[in-house]
Amino acid sequence: MSRFWNEKTRNIEPYVAGEQPKPGQKIIKLNTNENPYPASPNVRKVLDDVNILDLARYPETSSQIVREELAKVLGVTPEQVFCGNGSDEVLAFSFQAFFESGKEAAPLLIPDISYSFYPVYAELYNIPVKRIPLKEDFSIDVGAFCEEKGGGVAFANPNAPTSLLMELSDVEKILQANPDHVVLVDEAYAAFSGVTARTLLPKYRNLLVTGTLSKSHSLAGLRLGFAVGDPELIEGLCRIRDSFNSYPVDRIAQGIAATAIADDAWVMDNVSKICATRDRVAEELKKRGWIVPESKTNFLFASPKGAPAEAIYTKLREKGILVRYFNKPRISEYLRITIGTDEEMDALLKAVDEIAGGN
Ligand SMILES: Cc1ncc(COP(=O)(O)O)c(C=O)c1O
Repeated sequence: MSRFWNEKTRNIEPYVAGEQPKPGQKIIKLNTNENPYPASPNVRKVLDDVNILDLARYPETSSQIVREELAKVLGVTPEQVFCGNGSDEVLAFSFQAFFESGKEAAPLLIPDISYSFYPVYAELYNIPVKRIPLKEDFSIDVGAFCEEKGGGVAFANPNAPTSLLMELSDVEKILQANPDHVVLVDEAYAAFSGVTARTLLPKYRNLLVTGTLSKSHSLAGLRLGFAVGDPELIEGLCRIRDSFNSYPVDRIAQGIAATAIADDAWVMDNVSKICATRDRVAEELKKRGWIVPESKTNFLFASPKGAPAEAIYTKLREKGILVRYFNKPRISEYLRITIGTDEEMDALLKAVDEIAGGN
């Protein structure tokens, strides 16, 4: 605490990111939902071809080359695409662009358990929120989202950390119940579910879908996120971007992102490997008596048997395996485990057996 902090800085409770290993530390990292496989090999050539002199110039502001490649693979037009420095930034811009701030404003509706950045952004931008509790089985309570009169809706689909997918027919119900407000569907993990609300875009001008290259494209270190929606929503995001930082995506990142997006076959191959490993490990954990809801993401949200979740998290950490533990109401008996390579997941299962007893 410093006496120079203003009231916002004093009072905000920032998002806490998953632990990052120290340089040189050898660990199995299953705590931030990264992709264990490398990005498209074509990325190497982009890096080799970087002209240092080009870095003397600011990058193109709108990430045009990235938007064009995204438009091709997502089946939309470049005017429907916005790019930012990770989907975190795109989410932050969306909160500022579309949800009203101030005590009198109708609240933004979010699930009580979802991506923990949503309430942080809301706090940062003075947007009132109403948290709608997930149902007992951790699914999003679609009926409650439709009944509440809010000033917008934001949720992740599949949701995090629960890993559960909401059917598109339910997403559509929420869109229909909120015709005058933006419904923000955060699809950070959609590639692993094969389901996307983008197919609803022609019908709903209030729909904004965000995505990221951090998970499916193995580029968490690059920081490239995007939003897809009606060109008027995209224009709103550009207005916020240009009131904050006109060049959020650097020149090298734009080149790498465009190249990685174009190699969709590579991406989908890694995605299917990860899904196969996910389903295998889910079965293995279930055999050990764990509760494992059906994941449609690149992680499992699982409640252990044989020892409390926090104890397993701590002992795995001592063995050099990082998973994510949230000491929060309702989910304190669960672990969020990112899907790594088959070898990494076998090491996890072995460690779990040592800690909590196996078959
Ligand atoms: C639901 C959800 N949305 C957004 C993000 C942020 O992704 P990015 O790396 O694009 O900022 C994450 C990251 O874990 C996430 O889980």
